[in-house]
Amino acid sequence: MSSIVILTGSMRKNGNTARLAESFAAGASENNNVEIVSVAEYNVAPCTGCNSCFTREGGACFQKDDMVKIYEKLKNADIVVIASPVYFYGISAQLKAVVDRLHTPMRNTFHIKKLGLLLVGAAELPNLFEPIIMQYQMVLDFFKLESIGKVLVRGVKDIGDIENSSALKEAYELGKSLV
Ligand SMILES: Cc1cc2nc3c(=O)[nH]c(=O)nc-3n(C[C@H](O)[C@H](O)[C@H](O)COP(=O)(O)O)c2cc1C
Repeated sequence: MSSIVILTGSMRKNGNTARLAESFAAGASENNNVEIVSVAEYNVAPCTGCNSCFTREGGACFQKDDMVKIYEKLKNADIVVIASPVYFYGISAQLKAVVDRLHTPMRNTFHIKKLGLLLVGAAELPNLFEPIIMQYQMVLDFFKLESIGKVLVRGVKDIGDIENSSALKEAYELGKSLV
């Protein structure tokens, strides 16, 4: 049994990203402890690049915001799943802020072994997700992590669009495969 944290990056609480993450979580919950962390509910400022966390006790950031709560969740995670809408061919700014705040020596105390990727976007472009997948692969390689897999959903724009997609089942099955 693994502890799985799903970081969801949309501000739309019932949007396509949230629905995809919920389906994944439903499957994964059968054999694992799963928590969805919607970054919309946390106030996390972007990393300023001051690097003072490298000299501060515990690798703490000088910014005393809700990232403290997310660090606590990630400390117990075996698997982290990144779930985001495509915003200008990248992940959302709110989620990127959380990812960048992992540029701290505190992360050396984490025991994350695997990552997963859930993405939604409005366009039907074949290469829509390539920039994000490139970043994902670079992170996997740099931190020597394993990928549990990806679910990529094109052509979903408005809230509810994803309900007609086979991707919800695909996400459920990916979650369920984690035993
Ligand atoms: C600021 C912004 C930028 C976006 N950029 C893209 C884009 O580059 N490519 C794309 O296909 N969709 C883009 N979209 C559309 C969203 O990815 C799409 O509506 C998605 O389904 C939203 O997910 P959500 O329902 O979880 O919020 C953008 C939407 C917003 C608000």
